[in-house]
Amino acid sequence: MTGIYPGSFDPITLGHMDIIKRSSKTVDRLIVGVLNNQGKTPMFTAEERVAMIREAVKDMPNVEVRSFEGLLVDFARSMGASIIVRGLRAITDFEYELQMSQTNRIMNKDVDTIFFTTSLEYSYLSSSVVKEVAMFDGDLTQFVPPFVIEKVRAKLKK
Ligand code: PNS
Repeated sequence: MTGIYPGSFDPITLGHMDIIKRSSKTVDRLIVGVLNNQGKTPMFTAEERVAMIREAVKDMPNVEVRSFEGLLVDFARSMGASIIVRGLRAITDFEYELQMSQTNRIMNKDVDTIFFTTSLEYSYLSSSVVKEVAMFDGDLTQFVPPFVIEKVRAKLKK
């Protein structure tokens, strides 16, 4: 069974890594799908985000990383994936996630969403929090993989 773990990953956090590690044990092949959204101005380009995640998952043989544009269900279909993986941190995630998973299933009834409850230590964590802390020069060691810290710092120096 192939699963897709989609997101913006701008940048990848330890919370994302937790979901990747756990979900990759439940599917045969996990594709991390990085949304290349032309409408948004991310901190990192899609190529940079893909490269960072590839580095982070290099020891996980059944995990691939790709960027996608357009609808997630179309990407899932093109990858032969029947499962979408999402993490739920708190009740505040629920409404948005429910809406997305319902919409996705209406558009493609062959794709179902599986939710993983985020490990407690990451239940507050988001890429936005990482960027905010970084902007004020805060310590990022508990939020993102070590090599991502350098990349974030380098971006902010530009
Ligand atoms: O990390 P994020 O920003 O919470 O991820 C959101 C993502 C990428 C899963 C979502 O925006 C998405 O799937 N976008 C592609 C367009 C689409 O298919 N939307 C779903 C219909 S509501």
